[in-house]
Amino acid sequence: ELFRHWPARPWVIAHRGASGLAPENTLTAFILAVEQGAHGIECDLRLTRDGHVVICHDASVQRTTNGHGLVHEHTLAELRLLDAGYTFTTDRGASYPFRGLGLRIPTFEELLAALPNHVVINAEIKSAPWDPADRQRGQAIAERVVALVRQRPDLRARLLVSSFDAAVLDTVRRLDPELAVALCTLPLAPLPEQLRGTLERGYDAFHPMDVGFDQHGAAVIAAAHEAGVPVNVWTVDVPDRAIELVALGVDGIITDYPEATRHALTRAAS
Ligand code: G3P
Ligand code: MG
Repeated sequence: ELFRHWPARPWVIAHRGASGLAPENTLTAFILAVEQGAHGIECDLRLTRDGHVVICHDASVQRTTNGHGLVHEHTLAELRLLDAGYTFTTDRGASYPFRGLGLRIPTFEELLAALPNHVVINAEIKSAPWDPADRQRGQAIAERVVALVRQRPDLRARLLVSSFDAAVLDTVRRLDPELAVALCTLPLAPLPEQLRGTLERGYDAFHPMDVGFDQHGAAVIAAAHEAGVPVNVWTVDVPDRAIELVALGVDGIITDYPEATRHALTRAAS
């Protein structure tokens, strides 16, 4: 079984790191997640103008840094000048002095070097299916990730590549049929239909948003498990909700608050 080297379920996967408490997709947020007991981290991959794979959610650097413009219009050297802690505030009202501390947009390789080697990595390749140029960047990222795994075979057992763009997953599959891939879906169709893409294309895991589970969750999770496909749900920031989803049979919780989530799930299990 593909996930046999992963920790025992339910998995707590820190969404963009412990992004409720530290600036998303920074090494600080990823390391905090590990310290808080997350089993894994989720990160968003994008391509720079000069072909480096960096970790940034939005196409633009505007929301999370003191810079402007699109990630792919900047070279890595230019991105390194930006303050990735510049705009952070927590949704709990506290403010922390992350601005000016030197937090940076990391490269994917920097993240791999920083993570202890027991941590699961969910690398989400950003690719907009409606934008051919962005899709091409998604394909390039897929190639780079596969090349990295070729250099570091130890990553294989704890890396899960995901995307909303099935074409990107198909490229990963074609280049490295053994690498685990997961399809992310938006609730644009009922949950059972969202699962269909994963089952028909034979992907390894299903990453839906937390919508539709109260109606369809039990049946959809059963169908996924029947096919040996784990279900990892995002973004679940209310611990009681994580407990409900795990009770339904969900395998992984992707959350901005890994510590609170882990505590709640541990408490619920005892
Ligand atoms: O990969 C799961 C989740 O991160 C997908 O949505 O927009 O947060 O990248 P988003
Ligand atoms: Mg993501």
